[in-house]
Amino acid sequence: MFGAPFGAVANGGHSFCEPAIVVPMRPPNPKYGAVGSPEVSALMSAVTVPKLTHRQKQQRPERERLTWLEAAKPPAMLAIMSVPFESLAELMRTRRTSMFVDNEREVPAKVVEQLCELAQWAPNHKRTWPWRFALFTGNGRSRLGEAFATDMVDRDFGDDAKRAKTLTKYLRTPAVLVVGCIADPKPSMHDENRDAVAAGIQNMLLAATSLGLATYWGTAPLIDSPRVLELCGFDADVRIINVMYLGWAVGGPDAPPRPPMTLQVIDA
Ligand SMILES: Cc1cc2nc3c(=O)[nH]c(=O)nc-3n(C[C@H](O)[C@H](O)[C@H](O)COP(=O)(O)O)c2cc1C
Repeated sequence: MFGAPFGAVANGGHSFCEPAIVVPMRPPNPKYGAVGSPEVSALMSAVTVPKLTHRQKQQRPERERLTWLEAAKPPAMLAIMSVPFESLAELMRTRRTSMFVDNEREVPAKVVEQLCELAQWAPNHKRTWPWRFALFTGNGRSRLGEAFATDMVDRDFGDDAKRAKTLTKYLRTPAVLVVGCIADPKPSMHDENRDAVAAGIQNMLLAATSLGLATYWGTAPLIDSPRVLELCGFDADVRIINVMYLGWAVGGPDAPPRPPMTLQVIDA
């Protein structure tokens, strides 16, 4: 694992030989339970500061010399970021809201599980871990549509055409992931939970894009549909933040152009 010139780069079980930026992390606080999968935890706890030979040190470009890291005392926990900025930026710009998918090709639940696991690495205030996930595939997608449509009738929401569309629209991609957010009696926490869920969703969208999956963030017809919440196995006060369509991409739409970015810098 640590045979590469700059020391090993541990990342989901893969080894990379690219130059790495190495960031020490605090060990997980047992108070908050295990972080990540057991495999990742085991990998992380096995990481020690790589010992480089003099020659290896000389071979590194100046900017990759990990001088401050080398000063860190083992057993520091390390997360090693090997993703070049431009690659990450390209991924962010490439992600599209798209339903151009191969509807004959299944999206395995295992793949979606990986995406949900990555959502958990988003920041969230007070560590409330507010996201909830339910995956619909096969006939489950029809049951999702029926549950929404039935509640739309009960609530007198939408017209007949909208309800009829709701019945079948989740069949447009092979997988549909409902992402919910837990409730909090405190309004500021309620909002911040939702912010955290949105941050988690973005993790998922980017990771899915990197795998070749098309994603589409859809708003639920009713964010508090009781039948859908029950079908998902969520608590009744969870709110649906995203009905995410997922499928293997076959092409994609052009990117909607972004407005010019402005940043105010207040320096004094
Ligand atoms: C909170 C939220 C809700 C959205 N709901 C819908 C939706 O119901 N229908 C839809 O077509 N797109 C929806 N979108 C996707 C946006 O339309 C899309 O992000 C936007 O057009 C920019 O396109 P891009 O994602 O390809 O960059 C939603 C996005 C967000 C963040």
